[in-house]
Amino acid sequence: MSESSRFWDWIAKRYAKTPVADEAAYQTKLQVTRDYLRPDMEVLEFGCGTGSTAVAHAPNVKHIQAIDISAKMVAIAQEKVAANNITNVTLEQSSISEFTAHDQTFDAVFGLSILHLLNDREAAIAKVYKMLKPGGVFVSSTACLGGTMPILSIILRMGRFLGLLPLVRFFTKKELEDNLTDAGFHIDHLWQPGEDKAVFIVAKKPG
Ligand SMILES: C[S@@+](CC[C@H](N)C(=O)[O-])C[C@H]1O[C@@H](n2cnc3c(N)ncnc32)[C@H](O)[C@@H]1O
Repeated sequence: MSESSRFWDWIAKRYAKTPVADEAAYQTKLQVTRDYLRPDMEVLEFGCGTGSTAVAHAPNVKHIQAIDISAKMVAIAQEKVAANNITNVTLEQSSISEFTAHDQTFDAVFGLSILHLLNDREAAIAKVYKMLKPGGVFVSSTACLGGTMPILSIILRMGRFLGLLPLVRFFTKKELEDNLTDAGFHIDHLWQPGEDKAVFIVAKKPG
């Protein structure tokens, strides 16, 4: 078991019971995403957590491949999918770096509350780009903590050292935008509900 899956396995049950921090913003993100979806689409969601977003979008697309590094998160997502009688979501325990798919497999990729948790987000973004079909979209929502109070970084580092918190990378909204455009994406939609809120981006692969 990797270090990061251990933390998420430990927190999974509590995470499932915790209400979404900003329900209105979450609903807006779902609606914006829905506008990009079509019934014939193949979707990948990485870091799917307890599966709420996959369940919400399943009726709008052909199929969602949902992966997460944590077996416990995947188990909870599996229960949620079954409880909602959803048959077009496939769940798999996998990190984004281990996951394999042919180039140009997916019409849309979701990576929600995950890019800031990755050791190598540039590699993940490059991989998403390769897996997307031309014209496909990468929908992400990311805590951009670069430039925030240094004390936060110290607390997060200490928490990680003590095994109480996962890895959290610090970068700015501009750095994230640059990562996406450097990989070849065009930023189609960018929304930050508040100064300290996650940055929601729909990035398009030219097609
Ligand atoms: C903050 S939660 C977000 C879950 C869900 N996307 C959401 O928005 O509620 C981060 C999730 O990413 C998963 N995760 C962390 N590192 C990962 C990696 N390298 N590959 C895939 N999943 C990962 C964790 O297990 C956890 O379920």
